Amino acid sequence: MPTRGCWKMLFKLGLTVIILVAIYMFYAIDTELKSTKVTEEGFSNLNNAGQDTKYAADVVDELKTEIKTENEKSSVPPRESIHLAVVACGDRAEETLVMLKSAVLFTYIPLTFHIFTETSLMVHFQQQLDFWPPKYRQRIEFALYNITFPEHDGVKAEEWQKLFKPCACQRLFISDILHHIDSLIYVDTDVLFLGPIEDIWALFKSFNSSHMSALAIEHEDKAIGWYNRFARHPYYGEVGVNSGVMLMNLTRMRASPWLQKMNAFYKEYKLKITFGDQDLINIYFHYHPDQLYIFSCEINYRPDHCMYMSVCKPAEKVGAVILHGCRRVWFEDKQPAFKAVYQAFKEHYLGGSLRYDLLASITKNLAAAEPSNCGKVEGLFTRRIDSHLTHIDSQQQQQQQLPMDQQQQQQHKENPIS
Ligand SMILES: *[C@@H]1O[C@H](CO)[C@@H](O)[C@H](O)[C@H]1NC(C)=O
Ligand SMILES: *[C@@H]1O[C@H](CO)[C@@H](O)[C@H](O)[C@H]1NC(C)=O
Ligand SMILES: *[C@@H]1O[C@H](CO)[C@@H](O)[C@H](O)[C@H]1NC(C)=O
Repeated sequence: MPTRGCWKMLFKLGLTVIILVAIYMFYAIDTELKSTKVTEEGFSNLNNAGQDTKYAADVVDELKTEIKTENEKSSVPPRESIHLAVVACGDRAEETLVMLKSAVLFTYIPLTFHIFTETSLMVHFQQQLDFWPPKYRQRIEFALYNITFPEHDGVKAEEWQKLFKPCACQRLFISDILHHIDSLIYVDTDVLFLGPIEDIWALFKSFNSSHMSALAIEHEDKAIGWYNRFARHPYYGEVGVNSGVMLMNLTRMRASPWLQKMNAFYKEYKLKITFGDQDLINIYFHYHPDQLYIFSCEINYRPDHCMYMSVCKPAEKVGAVILHGCRRVWFEDKQPAFKAVYQAFKEHYLGGSLRYDLLASITKNLAAAEPSNCGKVEGLFTRRIDSHLTHIDSQQQQQQQLPMDQQQQQQHKENPIS
């Protein structure tokens, strides 16, 4: 029989338990309220999340876990994403939409598109992206921005607008405009992703403490380099850099003399530059080489890499990772292999099979294209997609060998949103 003292102790214990449960419940409800708020605030929260001071792969890992747990909890949208920026003016809207489609095809990670464009094209972008099948539409957020240029240090806004092609210089000021974003991948409108975008994002992890941006060099072959033969202004390294695919740590760019220098360089070199913003970027990194991380040619693969002979060796092994159809090769007949690949992406409908629709039609278009040096490089346009699909297939096979409940968990992981 318990004694009086013992009853008292049990009573106290019971009371403590009740209080603890009450506190726990209070917090649980509070958290739930907070996560509902996140849904409502949606986009702004997503942007704030970009300020996190985590390296890319960690972020990517976190994204995966976050989506998984969110998915388990039911449908609170993910709060972090990979940011992709593009400047699209004039007749570039169509290829931009094909590029955005290629970005979403190979990833389950949520993407945020920052599209700088003319006011007249905004409705078009809005409608086209809203028209994506829900499964893909859910994975993206997008924001449209007017083209705006700074007007200080005696350089007029119109001057920036006229330099090279309309709107091209906009990207020089992205760090200033998207002041709430930590980092992003900037691409020209004429690129195609041939594999998961998180592979590119992971390059941020390779940055040392002084790197703020990453680019590929302009030429692998010095003999046909443009900058080393013709430029009348300073440029990066021995052959200059190409600006078609650019990783930008905006936080670091804002802390650097980037903006201030752009105005100064523009004033000093405006009569000597040919390729507008790319030349200014080259001039900047000529003076600040420690701030630039150089990635390999298969991440910005251009016709120059194969038109005379194959000069980008990594691409021969792994295939092009990002294809850059510069000088309008998507639309003209100068490089039939590039055009063939673009056509396949353009005609691919979101939701179609990547292997039996997309990859099959790339292969078919390539076989039907006029012979060319680029077309001769074995596997250049297909190997990256093929290895990505093989990887996914093998993951699915592994799942089939798992017991049923684990299988379902795996599926959540692989396909967190749908
Ligand atoms: C960008 O740089 C800032 C400041 O050094 C750093 O905190 C942040 O993690 C970097 N972002 C990425 C994606 O690496
Ligand atoms: C872009 O500019 C136009 C005209 O100045 C304005 O009506 C529109 O609201 C702006 N759009 C955005 C997204 O800023
Ligand atoms: C970062 O790497 C670059 C070369 O890419 C180098 O010039 C620079 O000194 C390095 N910075 C630090 C802090 O090690």
